[in-house]
Amino acid sequence: MIRSAICGIGTALPKRVVKNAELEEIVDTSDEWIVQRTGIRQRYIAGKGETTVTLGTRAAREALQNAGLEIGDIDLIILATSTPDHTFPASATEIQQALEMKHGVAFDVQAVCSGFVFALTTADLYLRCQMARRVLVIGAETFSRILDWKDRTTCVLFGDGAGAVVLEAVDGVGDIRDYGILASILRSDGRHVKKLYVNGGPSTTQTIGHLCMEGREVFKYAVGAITDVVNTCLKVAGISHESLDWFVPHQANKRIIEASAHRLGIADEKVVVTIDGHGNTSAASVPLALAVAVRDGRVKRGDLIMLEAMGGGFTWGAVLVRW
Ligand code: UT7
Repeated sequence: MIRSAICGIGTALPKRVVKNAELEEIVDTSDEWIVQRTGIRQRYIAGKGETTVTLGTRAAREALQNAGLEIGDIDLIILATSTPDHTFPASATEIQQALEMKHGVAFDVQAVCSGFVFALTTADLYLRCQMARRVLVIGAETFSRILDWKDRTTCVLFGDGAGAVVLEAVDGVGDIRDYGILASILRSDGRHVKKLYVNGGPSTTQTIGHLCMEGREVFKYAVGAITDVVNTCLKVAGISHESLDWFVPHQANKRIIEASAHRLGIADEKVVVTIDGHGNTSAASVPLALAVAVRDGRVKRGDLIMLEAMGGGFTWGAVLVRW
């Protein structure tokens, strides 16, 4: 059986760090409120010349280097983003150009904060159908460009950044001992579109628009959706939460992460939390968090990791992977 193993990981963050104190100058907020309600202490904000494509390209280059591969080894690029450089073409093709990849195929996936798990699952299907042998999966965002910097209920929450992995087709025996993606569950429910959306777009207002969110409503839905999809993923894989070595959740709110882990019975020490340093980077948050845990030595070869995310749409999903 073909499995999709992660053989390289890379990240990119903008140069500028914005701490909570700096936001106190812009909107009526406080470091104390932001830390207590979200766990965020700082975020990175893209400056001039830093875009979704430049950040995504940097993360992709690092992932390739980490895998010991060159762009010629890659058949497919999937970019998860809600903040493309242009309405079209797909930013994935602009990354393809930047990496000087003249073969293969590149496209974007749009599932907001769940984008990375949606892109990972799409890549896994390509590999298992033998339509590709190696895939670059990137999550890259510049949410700072769609925020209303006068709205304290949203502008303090998000940050910019990118993370990327290289997935490679490997032989597996077809059970839980295999390396790579072992199970994946995706969900969406369009009844919730107005709870988290951007109020502009090419076909409606011909503007980019600003992010609008009913935070409390999203919060309430998130914990139930996340636990449901993680439990389903565990069931499909035929394992219990106790077999997990690491839980790498989407970094939207520390309280959502803690409540979900608690409800799932996952011990605190198995939960990777990076929201304090990055804020919510949407489709980049899961690969950024995963990279932190890989680099600091927590994640080791053979470890079982549950990735999950939830975002606008609503969309949500979970991916079980053996490192
Ligand atoms: O990644 C996509 C998914 N997104 C999420 O998962 C986000 C989910 N939602 C959340 O994380 C939380 O709902 C928020 C962090 C957005 C808000 O936290 P909350 O505990 O739900 O606060 P709230 O919206 O109930 O607001 C509580 C109070 C309000 O004041 P009153 O009405 O009680 O007087 C807000 O006006 O906090 C006020 N408030 C703020 N105060 C200081 C809202 N934003 C701020 C702020 N600084 N930045």
